[in-house]
Amino acid sequence: MAKNVKKSESKATIYEIVKYPDPVLAKKGEPITVFDKKLKTLVDDMFESMYEAQGIGLAAPQIGLSQRLTVIDVSFKKDPEQRIVLINPEIIEREGEQYEEEGCLSLPDIRDKVKRASWVKVRAQDADGKWFEIEGDELLARAFQHEIDHLDGVLFIDRISRLKKEMTVRRIKKLIKNGEW
Ligand code: NI
Repeated sequence: MAKNVKKSESKATIYEIVKYPDPVLAKKGEPITVFDKKLKTLVDDMFESMYEAQGIGLAAPQIGLSQRLTVIDVSFKKDPEQRIVLINPEIIEREGEQYEEEGCLSLPDIRDKVKRASWVKVRAQDADGKWFEIEGDELLARAFQHEIDHLDGVLFIDRISRLKKEMTVRRIKKLIKNGEW
């Protein structure tokens, strides 16, 4: 289902990142129900694709898969314990507020400040289907909210003011027209 798949040296499949305004990015992802070896391979390949694209979070819709799966590593390879897989995740608690700049692999070079909760608790399944809870603040809280938004078809530009979004969309349309997107 992903397009232009290429093999890297590490044998991982590196997926091409889907860019705005691909309709898959605006769709609500389907829950994952099968926790098999194929899913584990997909998770590994998503981490590799994310690293290749210099990202700290990647959601399945961003590789063209409308499914509720996302991978996060805010340490960017530095700390294996920060490799987080969220399957069918849900934010069950949120507190406080932060207003920081975000970017997105599906919106290259676009950055804007987004209002988010400063702390969240997430309930999700791991690649074996086991439910767990995880909390995060600051950057990790932002990553949780940003990536889980992707699974609901929401991009960070949907969370900025209407005027700012219109300006951003106009800028992207121009880039598309010039073949620079
Ligand atoms: Ni994103």
